[in-house]
Amino acid sequence: MNAQTPMHSADAATAEEALIAQDALDDLMTSDKATEVAMQNTLLTPRFYTTDFDELDAIDVSPVRSEWDKLIAQMKSDPNKGHFKKNDNWDTVDWEGMEPKLKAEFIDFLISSCTAEFSGCVLYKEMKRRGSNEDITTLFQLMARDEARHAGFINDALREAGIRVNLGFLTQKKKYTYFRPKFIYYATYLSEKIGYARYITIYRHLEENPEMQFHPIFKWFREWCNDEFSHGEAFALLMKTDPKLTESFSNKLWIKFFLTAVYSTMWVRDHQRPLFHKALGVNINWYGQEVFRKTSEISKQVFPITLDINHPRWRPNLDRLETASRQIATAKARGGVMGMFSRIVGMTKAAVAFVSILTIPANKHDVPANPRMEPAY
Ligand SMILES: [Fe+2]
Ligand SMILES: [Fe+2]
Repeated sequence: MNAQTPMHSADAATAEEALIAQDALDDLMTSDKATEVAMQNTLLTPRFYTTDFDELDAIDVSPVRSEWDKLIAQMKSDPNKGHFKKNDNWDTVDWEGMEPKLKAEFIDFLISSCTAEFSGCVLYKEMKRRGSNEDITTLFQLMARDEARHAGFINDALREAGIRVNLGFLTQKKKYTYFRPKFIYYATYLSEKIGYARYITIYRHLEENPEMQFHPIFKWFREWCNDEFSHGEAFALLMKTDPKLTESFSNKLWIKFFLTAVYSTMWVRDHQRPLFHKALGVNINWYGQEVFRKTSEISKQVFPITLDINHPRWRPNLDRLETASRQIATAKARGGVMGMFSRIVGMTKAAVAFVSILTIPANKHDVPANPRMEPAY
């Protein structure tokens, strides 16, 4: 590294370095539109979280020490250092020639992925900053490093389309949602594992159908999802330090709630991008169920229940939820008294569908004493 070739976020050793490297690339460029999209806070868009950092810092990882040390050593060895940047494999992208509606959906996908990656980075970085427990701060620093690289790489892709997400601005201005630590474990564990399942499913699909690869970023998904897998492993170990978190009656209900919320949000959100999935040659319904199947299989490592995704009430109510969310969006755009009325009706329909999914009896199973897994898909 020297003055002529500044560091890229992919080579950064910490989240802070990665963000500075990304900011340096954006000196001459801003894109209010992308930041505006990333700033949105709805039930479906990625959020920023804050939590009780002292409680998190007080975790004692002794009960999982040997697995913990192995995982941390693996993350410290940093197999993906330098991976998240463009190289010869990065084909030229014909943004101008891309069908405008597909382009819009794809950009929306990139912005929302970038925000989600960055949301992880902000939370993990803050935990690292506030904590004094070396086990915890080490883990969170390593995870923040990875997420900063991921967000930086997506921003590289967006920059080619003349768009960037202003990460510094988002950190300061986006609203933060407070979650108790245990909710952070459930939600973050699931989002890491579902992220792994999503990326690997697309990657494997494109391996079999290379002609559908309409953008080079998908070629990076395998190493990418392995990072997310490790992050999920860390949260599985954190939950293992306190059996109550996954075994008490009320916490099982919470786990069910988070599984339902995460799965149904993904379903609705993905269905908002039909052209994107068509361009990839992916049937969205198949993709959704496949991601749920993989995530459920993995989550058995720590959760004593999985959702019954083959139950007769499952798919019809996901579809109802999706239709209702469309109605809500249309009504919101319409405004006025009729818009308001239609919105209330839509929200009621969504609530009924959600409860109908939530009350499907869960599948129960035994959880292994040692949760550790390796990526197998
Ligand atoms: Fe990530
Ligand atoms: Fe992650």
